[in-house]
Amino acid sequence: MKALEGVRILDMTHVQSGPTCTQLLAWFGADVIKVERPGIGDATRGQLRDIPDVDSLYFTMLNHNKRSITLNTKDDKGKEIFTRLIEECDVMVENFAPGALDRMGFSWERIQQINPRMIYASVKGFGPGPYSDCKVYENVAQCAGGGASTTGFPDGPPLVTGAQVGDSGTGLNLALGIVTALYHREKSGKGQRVLASMQDGVLNLCRVKLRDQQRLQRGPLTEYSQFGEGVEFGESTPRAGNDSGGGQPGRILKCKGWETDPNAYTYFITQAAVWKSICDVIGRPEWKDDPDFATPSQRLPRLGEVFEAIENWTKTKTKYEVMEICNPLDIPVGPILSMKELSEEPSLRETGTVVEVDHPERGKYLTVGNPIKLSDSPAEVRRSPLLGEHTEEILREVVGFNDDEIISAQTVGAV
Ligand code: COA
Repeated sequence: MKALEGVRILDMTHVQSGPTCTQLLAWFGADVIKVERPGIGDATRGQLRDIPDVDSLYFTMLNHNKRSITLNTKDDKGKEIFTRLIEECDVMVENFAPGALDRMGFSWERIQQINPRMIYASVKGFGPGPYSDCKVYENVAQCAGGGASTTGFPDGPPLVTGAQVGDSGTGLNLALGIVTALYHREKSGKGQRVLASMQDGVLNLCRVKLRDQQRLQRGPLTEYSQFGEGVEFGESTPRAGNDSGGGQPGRILKCKGWETDPNAYTYFITQAAVWKSICDVIGRPEWKDDPDFATPSQRLPRLGEVFEAIENWTKTKTKYEVMEICNPLDIPVGPILSMKELSEEPSLRETGTVVEVDHPERGKYLTVGNPIKLSDSPAEVRRSPLLGEHTEEILREVVGFNDDEIISAQTVGAV
């Protein structure tokens, strides 16, 4: 039995943030019923298509293990079916623009009347406040949550990151909120509202930058490269390039082949505990006892010199050789892996982190599997549904319609 077997989710999500949440719940065994507009469906089905008229990878990679019903929730018959689905489900998840469900006639108050045990979970761009009415996409959240102002190099513009921390990150938060509310319902017998804002989610992940904002009021941030370079700090947490965000200085360094391979780099951390091993590996044993380099505080103003010496060594090795040499010595390093390398890495296939899926219209493709592994509830990844593939099945099994009622709903265009 899967961990969330028996939990039924009414999935009104679209694009990325909401679908990542419900996909995760589906991997844990929940029955996820994705509601989509007849003839249109989730907008991502048609976005960034690589094969004409076939659901895009964008859509398929966010909607595994779900069932799809088409339903016009603005039509009277559609509203009747939607009401039945609210009665039969445990959780409703949505990430529409603010107010969309209220405009359909399904406010939180109305949903509670229909099903007091319902957990109603939403992703919104912002929490309550001046921007709560705004539509938000990934990069807006990264910018509004503090990610962009603290990413990039100090002399360059703000940068967004390729990791979808605003969308997929908030989807994770929402999933945790939902399972917590399900746990609470066991005791209270009642559902509740769950809200995960994308700005909150990004700021939560930028915690160390808010830490540095406050440290800045008491003096310069000595572990930032700009300290050693003599560049003055301003009023807010600066962009730190590839500096490590923790107390152990680290940087991205060139490796053998960097001139032609854009990913021939390694991340190298000068952890204090292994400093002596680092000195030996890079051929600078005299630094072990040198009063300018022996301790972390002595090294801080000289990080440029330290990393230049380490890079002179890493440039003579491939990023994998750096790992092979440093790991046995407990020196924390990590190769910069490209998407090509990750997609071909056998160990990630073996653990189900990267999965090959077969789709009736597009054939085989790769996707990321469940990043959270439960020993008694392993996640098998099933292909995403075609638009409305399960409409009749859901009308029959969940809504309780007979053949005539299904035909009538189809005739009026409600499904
Ligand atoms: N039947 C009938 N109407 C439906 C429907 C259905 N099954 N499903 C959706 N709709 C309607 C909605 O009710 C809404 O209509 P309304 O504007 O008349 O109220 C309309 O479709 C479009 O919804 P909306 O959410 O406004 O989509 P959008 O494409 O304009 O905006 C976002 C997309 C992502 C910007 C917006 O949904 C948003 O800000 N969401 C919250 C934050 C978020 O999750 N962002 C990350 C996305 S990865």
